[in-house]
Amino acid sequence: MTGEESASKPTWPDDRAEFEAQRRRDSLAMGEDAALFREARDVVMAADRHRYTYMWSWMGVPIIQMPADIVATQEIVWATKPDVIVETGVARGGSVVFYASMLTLLGKGKVIGVDVDIRAHNRETIESHPMAGRISLVEGSSTDPGTIARVKALVPPGASTMLILDSDHSKAHVLAELRALSPLVTPGQFLIVADTLLGRLDAGQTPTTRAKFWPPGDEPLAAVHQFLIENDGFHCDREINAKMILSSSPGGYLRSRVK
Ligand SMILES: C[S@@+](CC[C@H](N)C(=O)[O-])C[C@H]1O[C@@H](n2cnc3c(N)ncnc32)[C@H](O)[C@@H]1O
Repeated sequence: MTGEESASKPTWPDDRAEFEAQRRRDSLAMGEDAALFREARDVVMAADRHRYTYMWSWMGVPIIQMPADIVATQEIVWATKPDVIVETGVARGGSVVFYASMLTLLGKGKVIGVDVDIRAHNRETIESHPMAGRISLVEGSSTDPGTIARVKALVPPGASTMLILDSDHSKAHVLAELRALSPLVTPGQFLIVADTLLGRLDAGQTPTTRAKFWPPGDEPLAAVHQFLIENDGFHCDREINAKMILSSSPGGYLRSRVK
């Protein structure tokens, strides 16, 4: 750079701390905007008529998520750097491939994916994927004691562990998963409960075209509320949840307290 060029280049003050503070203020304020939440929820449910959450892939594998939830999870994994990510509900494999790709960027760790029904073609997709080396699949119901024992055996002692629950969305099942699997989550790590939006729907908005039907009161948010009454080791992460509009899981981002 010549002396002339450097003289003409403006010197900007370092605004990184203020930028972070401003967006934190913005997202917390947005989290209080009930009218916006309802508008966003109605858009999400209108798009659900076209199976919007089924339209995306991660590294070529279908991932059944809202894009905002994928980005939020990326932020969480990068910030908290878990050694192990356990997910219940693998489906076609895009989410376990996504977590494995994040761990690859971190240069460590493994993903344990649990599903009651791992179909041969989905297993083949996952096991032949470039991310396969970081993924262990466990077939069985996520609340079955035998399945839970197999998952626990795959978690190395002392591993910093994150958990995502995205299987059967009934209250009883999610609550049973929370009770059985939340002890795996280490202090400071996240426990994400998917599809909590089902608990924030108005009458008539619950999707009826899926194989199962989870009306308000018998869905993941109802399980989260009961779990947080029973367990003071977790709290709802205000900052992440505040910006989860256009999300399947507002209120589903829990964090284990650091004692
Ligand atoms: C919504 S899909 C998971 C989507 C996946 N996490 C993704 O982001 O692409 C739900 C999955 O939960 C599985 N499932 C249903 N009941 C289950 C149970 N009791 N235990 C474990 N998995 C279960 C289903 O077989 C299905 O593959």
